[in-house]
Amino acid sequence: MKVIPLPLYYEEKEGQLILTDTTFHFSEELAESAAFFQQFILMKTGINLRSEKYAQINFVLDFNLGEEEYQLDISEHSLMLAARTDSGAYYGIQTLIQLLEYKDGKYYYPEIYIEDRPKFAYRGFMFDIARHFFGKGEIMRLIDLISFHKFNYLHLHLTDDQGWRLESEKYPRLQEISSRRRGTILKDGTIDGIAHYGYLKKQELKEIVEYARLRHLEVIPEIDMPGHMTSLLAAYPELLCSGVNDNIEVRSAWGISKDILCAGNELTYKILEDLLLEVMEVFPSRYIHLGGDEAPKDNWRNCSLCQEKIKKENLENEEALQAYFFNHFQNFLSKYGRVAIGWNDGLHPDLNESVIIQHWKPGTRKKTVKAANSSRKVIMSDFLYLYLDYPYAMTPLAKTYNYNPLKGIEKEENILGIEAPLWTEWVANRAKIDFQIFPRIAAVAEVAWTAPELKDYDSFRKRLNYLYPIYQKMGVNFARNKEIKPGFLKRIINTRSWWKNEDSEFLKE
Ligand code: ACM
Ligand code: ZN
Repeated sequence: MKVIPLPLYYEEKEGQLILTDTTFHFSEELAESAAFFQQFILMKTGINLRSEKYAQINFVLDFNLGEEEYQLDISEHSLMLAARTDSGAYYGIQTLIQLLEYKDGKYYYPEIYIEDRPKFAYRGFMFDIARHFFGKGEIMRLIDLISFHKFNYLHLHLTDDQGWRLESEKYPRLQEISSRRRGTILKDGTIDGIAHYGYLKKQELKEIVEYARLRHLEVIPEIDMPGHMTSLLAAYPELLCSGVNDNIEVRSAWGISKDILCAGNELTYKILEDLLLEVMEVFPSRYIHLGGDEAPKDNWRNCSLCQEKIKKENLENEEALQAYFFNHFQNFLSKYGRVAIGWNDGLHPDLNESVIIQHWKPGTRKKTVKAANSSRKVIMSDFLYLYLDYPYAMTPLAKTYNYNPLKGIEKEENILGIEAPLWTEWVANRAKIDFQIFPRIAAVAEVAWTAPELKDYDSFRKRLNYLYPIYQKMGVNFARNKEIKPGFLKRIINTRSWWKNEDSEFLKE
């Protein structure tokens, strides 16, 4: 078996199905995936699968299977892919892409029987295009690559202190001012003085959403609030708290800003609602991410408007004000049938039941687990295991692979799944994106998809050797063996230099 993520059940046999003048038949309900498969076979082998009623390759509908489930039955004479939905069939095809063999001038499939379905319904990857901007082409390339690993959610971190990356018709200063910064901080602490800018037009975002939909991925937009908002505040400083110096710019340095949105100003609510309407117009996703991480309350404590709000709404303190703020937008989104996700910094007793928490923050797991063990829905993104922007020295492949999202969890149904973020403070180009993601994303895929009792790191490492040539053909700059398993000393030295923001040879690769 060479497939990643490892299927739930399989039986391997000796024979082979050789592809030559092969015939193909599919149920109309699976037409989209059938077209995808035909295209793959044509590109890869040059063989044009011929449509025929009684065919060697059959895609059939099976109502007994689950939403994302598929079965594959390959013998010397036939290949049958069964699924209930197009997405089930799509995942079967991703397996077929990995199973295809070539020898002595012939393409063939090994004889095999597979039953497969995901462990978790939510298998996410997050891409930060705020710290460094990446456009439609790069996002679509990543959609191809993560859907190949059977992921079904792409979370786009669209806004942050260092840049606003989506067009607004109502608030054009967001693209004129917020989407551009004067420079970018370097490892030595100086600013490079090179303007960095970019944003996605609504039309481009719609194309991305459609491209993802065809690959059975939902794109979740994130508008991070009330913190990480310097880029918007640089264009609309009237949303700062009272008494705060409003001479602010889109940030060139990383880190956490004290300048957050005023939660006592009605204009804040008005502008964000307008923006969320624009967001929903572009993104049909069930989930909208409202951020909520790293929002220092210094300004709120000293702001007459925020303090008035706390009094008027009978709130306990500034943390309760953030929950109030979040609930306001959750209620707004729910009017349109949407559900809010928030980073776990915002987990608070007052927070609406329906808000999904994305757990990331080290040292807070107990609190998140407690919430999940009562009734909170949670997506796990533990910083120490799933943050793909951190060096392999700190987070080696094996550590990510052996991550257990269900540790301490009594109500498994409350863990929707996992998500691996790629923040891009120190990721400025495609080569670095690939190096950080691959092959760790394959490990994440196996945590998300494969039944935990079947996970085995040695088996995974062996199967990775079959994935590398595929990465190579796709032009992916994956990390090599010596890089994903650094020795003890290298781990210490490089992790230290990472945290000190020093350039080290290891980090540069
Ligand atoms: C985060 O890493 N600030 C969610
Ligand atoms: Zn305020």
